[in-house]
Amino acid sequence: MSEINQNQKEFWNGPGGEAWVVGQETLDAAMRPVTEVLLKAAAVKSTDRVMDIGCGTGETTLEVARTASAALGVDISKPMLALATDRAGELGLSNVQFEQRDVQGDALQSDTTLAMSRFGVMFFEDPVAAFANIRSQMAADGRLCFACWKSPRENEWVSLPMSVVRKHIQDDTPPDPLAPGPFAFADDKRIASILEEAGWRDINIAPTDFDMAWGESPEAAAHGLIERGPLRRIFVGDPSITEETKQTIIKGIQDALPPSEGGIFLKGAIWIVTAKAN
Ligand SMILES: C[S@@+](CC[C@H](N)C(=O)[O-])C[C@H]1O[C@@H](n2cnc3c(N)ncnc32)[C@H](O)[C@@H]1O
Repeated sequence: MSEINQNQKEFWNGPGGEAWVVGQETLDAAMRPVTEVLLKAAAVKSTDRVMDIGCGTGETTLEVARTASAALGVDISKPMLALATDRAGELGLSNVQFEQRDVQGDALQSDTTLAMSRFGVMFFEDPVAAFANIRSQMAADGRLCFACWKSPRENEWVSLPMSVVRKHIQDDTPPDPLAPGPFAFADDKRIASILEEAGWRDINIAPTDFDMAWGESPEAAAHGLIERGPLRRIFVGDPSITEETKQTIIKGIQDALPPSEGGIFLKGAIWIVTAKAN
């Protein structure tokens, strides 16, 4: 594997990958509506040779393999790929494979008819190079379909806990909105220009909102939001934050969650992006 995207490689083979492995069931349940809308937009065919970009623990690869002829999940994270491989084995699926690849620079699966991704395309150092690399491996009628997050402000599951965190933790360095990370593709004009530059055409970018389930109780939801979302980098990754402050924040998030029966739901806002290789 190439040495580019080194920070991302370390993160997804370290704390990021670990959080997704431990939280796989919770995260896949919370993102079930995204999986459904993504697969519908991808219009998967029985003849498709699919490549799932940044497949992580494999949920969308396993889902697409129910319809497609073959599905390959590629990712830089060893622990996430290991769980994905175990899941495929448990399901007895023979048309699924998982391989460790850096999508930006490594050779990928040739003659892919559908390249798809649920939140796996926003982490490249050089997104134009990555999307050009994907395109170079597509069959003549190959198509692209992916889901990515709109801005943190439009995603209540980020903005609500973040507003509580900000009351207790001073963060003087606002994140670079274009840096690789979950919200790097929040701007639809940027997505279009990256894909155009990488040679894709017939680009369509459609907004979708959905309700994300974060658990049965405010306690479970507050813990999930901190341990599994982008807040983890601030909350878990900063040793200067005391245990007392953490507990105050958790309580603050619980109190701020909307009252609800039958579980805690927060709004998620995404783009569903489709394009053609030629
Ligand atoms: C937010 S997770 C999404 C995982 C999975 N698609 C899902 O929805 O459960 C992002 C994934 O992108 C992967 N990733 C990041 N940079 C990558 C790269 N350059 N090549 C391949 N995978 C990458 C990470 O390892 C991680 O599994």
